[in-house]
Amino acid sequence: MYSNKVLDHGTPAREATTTVTVTIDGKAVHVPAGTSVMRAAVDAGVKIPKLCATDSLEAFGSCRLCVVEVEGRRGYPASCTTPCEPGMKVTTQSKKLADLRRGVMELYISDHPLDCLTCPTNGNCELQDMAGVVGLREVRYGYDGENHLDAKKDESNPYFTFDASKCIVCSRCVRACEEIQGTFALTVQGRGFDSKIAPGPTDFLSSECVSCGACVQACPTATLSEKSIIEQGQPDHAVVTTCAYCGVGCSFRAEMKGSEVVRMVPNKDGQANHGHSCVKGRFAWGYATHKDRLKKPMIRKKITDPWREVSWQEAFDYAAGEIRRIQKAYGKDSVGGITSSRCTNEETFLVQKLVRAAFGTNNVDTCARVCHSPTGYGLKQTLGESAGTQDFDSVDHTDCVIVIGANPTDGHPVFASRMKRRLRGTATEEGAGLIVIDPRRIDLVRTPHVEADFHLQLKPGTNVAVLNALAHVVVTEGLAKEDYVAQRCDLGEYAKWKQFIQRPENSPEALESETGVPAAHIRGAARLFASAPNAAIYYGLGVTEHSQGSTTVMAIANLAMVTGNIGRKGVGVNPLRGQNNVQGSCDMGSFPHELPGYRHVSDAATRALFEAAWGRPISDEPGLRIPNMFDAAIDGSFKALYVQGEDIAQSDPDTQHVQKALESLECLIVQDIFLNETAKYAHVLLPGSSFLEKDGTFTNAERRISRVRKVMPPLAGLADWEATVGLAKALGYEMRYDHPSEIMDEIARLTPTFTGVSYEKLDRLGSIQWPCNDKAPEGTPIMHEDQFVRGKGKFFVTQYVATPERTTRKFPLILTTGRILSQYNVGAQTRRTENTVWHEKDVLEIHPFDAEQRGIKDGEMVSLQSRKGETTLRAVVTERMQPGVVYTTFHHPESGVNVVTTENSDWATNCPEYKVTAVQVVAHAKKSEWQREYEQFSEAQENAVPDSAVRGEAR
Ligand code: SF4
Ligand code: SF4
Ligand code: SF4
Ligand code: FES
Repeated sequence: MYSNKVLDHGTPAREATTTVTVTIDGKAVHVPAGTSVMRAAVDAGVKIPKLCATDSLEAFGSCRLCVVEVEGRRGYPASCTTPCEPGMKVTTQSKKLADLRRGVMELYISDHPLDCLTCPTNGNCELQDMAGVVGLREVRYGYDGENHLDAKKDESNPYFTFDASKCIVCSRCVRACEEIQGTFALTVQGRGFDSKIAPGPTDFLSSECVSCGACVQACPTATLSEKSIIEQGQPDHAVVTTCAYCGVGCSFRAEMKGSEVVRMVPNKDGQANHGHSCVKGRFAWGYATHKDRLKKPMIRKKITDPWREVSWQEAFDYAAGEIRRIQKAYGKDSVGGITSSRCTNEETFLVQKLVRAAFGTNNVDTCARVCHSPTGYGLKQTLGESAGTQDFDSVDHTDCVIVIGANPTDGHPVFASRMKRRLRGTATEEGAGLIVIDPRRIDLVRTPHVEADFHLQLKPGTNVAVLNALAHVVVTEGLAKEDYVAQRCDLGEYAKWKQFIQRPENSPEALESETGVPAAHIRGAARLFASAPNAAIYYGLGVTEHSQGSTTVMAIANLAMVTGNIGRKGVGVNPLRGQNNVQGSCDMGSFPHELPGYRHVSDAATRALFEAAWGRPISDEPGLRIPNMFDAAIDGSFKALYVQGEDIAQSDPDTQHVQKALESLECLIVQDIFLNETAKYAHVLLPGSSFLEKDGTFTNAERRISRVRKVMPPLAGLADWEATVGLAKALGYEMRYDHPSEIMDEIARLTPTFTGVSYEKLDRLGSIQWPCNDKAPEGTPIMHEDQFVRGKGKFFVTQYVATPERTTRKFPLILTTGRILSQYNVGAQTRRTENTVWHEKDVLEIHPFDAEQRGIKDGEMVSLQSRKGETTLRAVVTERMQPGVVYTTFHHPESGVNVVTTENSDWATNCPEYKVTAVQVVAHAKKSEWQREYEQFSEAQENAVPDSAVRGEAR
């Protein structure tokens, strides 16, 4: 029988430079100083009974089941709270200890329902196991006295129940919520017999709980149980795979019953998450089998025609015929493709190969265009590699953190928990300093036991000014690490930059009115950051999605270099990637100017390498970027597009422009798991496969390549990579792979930073951070250690230029956008899960002052208007916003916030300026004209899909 129990050492590992030797039941064992007797016993192959201890949490010592005898000591100490001391001799089994343990278990069981046979965790319950381990045979205390057997169940959370009648008040859940998740939602209320676990004064759903599942994971009984386990029963096998949501890339064990997922359990050995998860990866996987999943390929001539279900082959032949017809009529470059950061590295690699080799053009781009393309550009220019510099574990060693333009508790929750732990510090180590640079008061600014030293609440669009002002203080106050710079950076460029940054116009005082940040705060923050022994910068889309996105990334690199903070643990420049495989999709050559491994298409040697491998010529001209594809479609020179796994109609800015572009295409091929907003404009629909249905790899924000493993067959019969191979073949271009591992082998052959990567090695090591090659056969956790990849680090002059988007009398407010914890990107997945209970619709956050001026009440529908368009959504009046700035998310198509965002974009990469739009907000609104028209269009398109194409059997 499958068991989901993994070895539990009882208490966390200790890092120490000295070891101690103890004897456990006669066996000598050497452990790091500070290790508990319980953990040392496990190392010696001895398992001591336990209930309140588990190795993900600090020991608490409440259950007394783990008592032992220590030679020379009186009494029976708890092994979980007793540290090993040199020469200690421990006995874990004796008649006395057995009696004591049985007594403890007897008390627990006398107040526990005896319904083991029908209990959902039967066979996977630590209480049950311990009753067996201690040999409990009778319970002398009946149920006649006071007990908790009638305690009420809390079923408010959509994913797990809290059955208080089964609680043994071991407090593992409380500690998990505090130590691992850092939310502090649970408390032990009352004392002694009356003590009980409570999520504050309310139920779980209305509490501070963020549904991460850490408490459920930690609970040794059935008190906190997944509803899926209650409904479906215990799993019969498990497969290790990687979460398909955000760029943290958490590793999970998909626990299965046949080909049905029963639960996703964060993998204790996961090198990105170390056994933790968030609500999305842990619970929101039900979309994979949602009734809306597309299961049949379909084609149609015009988007007003009804869809016709066809076989895969017919769909490929039709699509290939259209591509060739269009190329013949309008030229080779009238077609293109878009790869997806949701798909695997192998799939992304194949799409760009298809476009380059089979279409014969470099018109390929990726959704990273609209998120982290400035990261790729800015870090390549300054440091020499288009990726973040650290692993996540590095944050444990930092002394000061800047979080700029990122909201990790919502966007990257598992990493945020890790970061919060470092910010809180421990009993023996002070927490790290924190500087938050964000227009909104994000949760990190003040959350239980964490408070930012500085919240630089800048005006949207002024990142470069704030970063320049910070660097100005560092340089002018003599805080620069001149030795580091002299040794590692290009001194000519440094001299130019230094001369620029010292100018009075870059001082905090000169920039105060532009940024809205008091100069004293900038000075304080700069001193804190520059004086920390190890200081790190973490950033997100609030940095990149600006007209100066690339400049901001370079300003971040400048600040890190001038303070000597690149090339070791605890420091670095860390882009937090939005989607699961943004890093990978960029690495795989998805950009129109770069082949895999960030090599420019104009480089003849690189082209020759790929031409030899692929047997087709590759153009030396960069192709079209996504926004250029839209413009060209409207101009009539771009006619066909293959989009794999991206919803450009919802995610890209200036929706009406995008819609017009899509309407102008003669052939739009969409490959997706749902009829997304883009698919409503398609002529060919290829049903996509979810991450559960295929093999492959994702690369997370740490450059960590992790395996995605197939746990069920593709619902529509083919995995995404197989569909791309089929389309290529129909175009007369054979791609021969029997398994995605062979695609990875090809990537490794052609890409210097991947030469050492293989599925065999990934299976052996768990995951690999690239570069992985002869120089670093097991990968590279931290980059630029001895020198920068480009040789000498290059400072860039980062002149602040205000965004062209200015507020006016007509549009006096600034709109900035982002996302929230329970939803993900365009929401196509999370809207089809119970996560909607937390965020059913997008809302507009507005400061009370702005609301009052406009007569807007909390919860009322308001109109959001810009020079691009208008939409309506519900207002939330909150002091989280600063006056003059409003905020919303883009998870729901019906509010379609991108109807108001503009065509402004980053000067270097065209990454759209989502974060700054001049808007007006008007009270008492009805649906906008765009919304009414779109609703009609959308309904007609949904009705055009035959039922059998979403519910039918695959063929
Ligand atoms: S809910 Fe579970 S983990 Fe929490 S105190 Fe009760 S038994 Fe322990
Ligand atoms: S699910 Fe997470 S946030 Fe909620 S109570 Fe449990 S540990 Fe805390
Ligand atoms: S933090 Fe990101 S990768 Fe991890 S479980 Fe949540 S969504 Fe998935
Ligand atoms: S396991 Fe040690 S006291 Fe509970």
